[in-house]
Amino acid sequence: MRNFLSVKDVLPLQTALALAKEVKAKPFADRELGRDKTLLMVFFNSSLRTRLSTQKAALNLGMNVIVLDINQGAWKLETERGVVMDGDKPEHILEAIPVMGCYCDIIGVRAFAGLQDRDYDYREVILNQFIQYSGKPVFSMEGATRHPLQSFADLITIEEYKKTPRPKVLLTWAPHPNALPQAVPNSFAEWMNQTDYEFVITHPEGYELDAEFVQGAVVEYDLEKAYRGADFVYAKNWSAYSGAQYGKVLHDDRRWTVDAQKMALTSNACFMHCLPVRRNMIVTDDVIESPASLVIPEAANRVVSAQTVLREILRGLL
Ligand code: CP
Repeated sequence: MRNFLSVKDVLPLQTALALAKEVKAKPFADRELGRDKTLLMVFFNSSLRTRLSTQKAALNLGMNVIVLDINQGAWKLETERGVVMDGDKPEHILEAIPVMGCYCDIIGVRAFAGLQDRDYDYREVILNQFIQYSGKPVFSMEGATRHPLQSFADLITIEEYKKTPRPKVLLTWAPHPNALPQAVPNSFAEWMNQTDYEFVITHPEGYELDAEFVQGAVVEYDLEKAYRGADFVYAKNWSAYSGAQYGKVLHDDRRWTVDAQKMALTSNACFMHCLPVRRNMIVTDDVIESPASLVIPEAANRVVSAQTVLREILRGLL
């Protein structure tokens, strides 16, 4: 593997899951693979899980790790070509990226959607600039449109906890006070659509996702129908995708909060969320604290997904 940006980079999924199982069973078996190799993790946005789990994954593989927070201590970067740089940004990303490439063997990048310009966001400008100008393998630590390390960890978790071969997996929109990107639900849908699970998406009208990610999934606007018989309930907020509403919070309808009443409609479903989560907006205290909540094992599997991906990229460097 050279770059890791979406599910397409690890197909077929059964192979990816088998590799993940190997990594989980023997996390220190490949310490020589990463010896004298350096991972650079570049964050344009905040993180807890991605930062720690990816760093842990690299350490398990024997790698050295450098972390750069662009907004804390680095020069402010201009990202557009053709700009007269007479403002507050002293460095251009087109010099900064090849310089970063000189100091490492693999680069992880986190660069969220700005939610101002849908076309710009959905072109994944920053991730693609790293691929084009760094000269090094690049993997996404959440881009503008996808969060593939999260979705891979989610899939590993579902495989570990499923009680039937083809579980019903429900992705539900849930309220949040701020405008959030569509990266996590887009990506989750993209990965679920590669499985043979029964996959259903529910959200209020106006929060339709990009058809490229929804593909053949059932979109059910009736909450009761959506929850009935679900084996997994995956909650996430996202802002509007469509047209002039792009990036907007249309409303924070609390009827969509995941609560015990809705979970009672399911087939004793497990609750999932990528974290961080706003309690009693997205999910009630009792649901997230219940034995059915998988949020901690899901976060733990972020090490497994990151290590599986890093291991394949390192093997590609041999
Ligand atoms: N789920 C996730 O990516 O968490 P962080 O934003 O804390 O990295």
